[in-house]
Amino acid sequence: MENLSGKRILISGGAGFLGSHLIEKLKGCEITVIDDFSTTAVNYLPRNVKIIKEGVERFTTNEKFDIIIHMAARPSPDDYMEHPVETMLSNSIGTYNMLEIARKSDALFMYTSTSEVYGDSEIIPTPETYWGKVNPIGPRSCYDESKRFSEALCMSYYREYGLDVRIQRIFNTYGPRLRHDSSYGRVISRFIYQALKGEDLTIHGDGMQTRAFLYVDDWIDATLRMLTLKNLAGEVINIGSDKEITILELANKIINLTRSTSKIKFLPSRPDDPKRRAADISKARKLLNWEPKTSLDEGLEKTIKWFKENI
Ligand SMILES: NC(=O)c1ccc[n+]([C@@H]2O[C@H](COP(=O)([O-])OP(=O)(O)OC[C@H]3O[C@@H](n4cnc5c(N)ncnc54)[C@H](O)[C@@H]3O)[C@@H](O)[C@H]2O)c1
Repeated sequence: MENLSGKRILISGGAGFLGSHLIEKLKGCEITVIDDFSTTAVNYLPRNVKIIKEGVERFTTNEKFDIIIHMAARPSPDDYMEHPVETMLSNSIGTYNMLEIARKSDALFMYTSTSEVYGDSEIIPTPETYWGKVNPIGPRSCYDESKRFSEALCMSYYREYGLDVRIQRIFNTYGPRLRHDSSYGRVISRFIYQALKGEDLTIHGDGMQTRAFLYVDDWIDATLRMLTLKNLAGEVINIGSDKEITILELANKIINLTRSTSKIKFLPSRPDDPKRRAADISKARKLLNWEPKTSLDEGLEKTIKWFKENI
């Protein structure tokens, strides 16, 4: 793998959960973050990172970079359904702006897409070759379809300009620093917070829907490989876990691990919520020589410890 030390790296959405963890590992790089802090409340970035507080859909620059990572997005379903237009703009005009900077810099471009591009997948675990079953006009479409558009735009830059674009389709990733509050919370951070507070754990639907969860350290490992290995231009790679668990099992596991007295409360299901989700990671295994190392129990223990100390 190539050494990234000394590289000039521009990261949109770099102040967020995944971005802040990744940046800690990019030691010796000159990092610029463009972030509007719309979904991030606490800034965990090291002091030497240059921060530009701006919406990615409005951002242009003549500066040149070696690597561009486009992560700016609103990934939490409750939040993106509350802000559908902003969600679509960061994943369309925002993607265009970042791709243009990459084209002018002749930079390596990495896009953090999502398993949501598969929609309510009929093939589990889902491979990259599956084209998706997405409702193009449903309440989740602002996220799913704009991520799909972004992927298509990335591939257009690869085909027309020969830009070195690399797309990762991230499946649910969790760990310390995930927000638990308001509409930004994601299932694991919300459950842990509710369990630690002795509140009911809230499940949308009957809890029989499945997800597969990746611990953030494993995501960083895969991402560093995607940034440094050669011959990945134009590749789309699932980064996630292949170990499915129902949301009800997850809730009970978190109640047990936190030794909480909380109960479970069922809420109406979310529209177009995928019934099952797990990643086929054969391609990542082969191209990146990568696979997740952290078990769910181990990752949850670390995340719970962080929540106990920080929230
Ligand atoms: N964590 C996951 O499970 C997961 C799964 C699939 C895909 N992803 C993708 O990974 C990326 C990072 O996700 P995360 O989990 O770190 O989320 P996050 O919400 O913690 O981080 C996103 C960051 O983008 C910023 N942002 C949002 N809209 C912006 C805009 N218009 N202009 C500038 N900045 C903006 C936010 O302020 C935040 O700092 C996103 O693109 C997301 O779609 C994450």
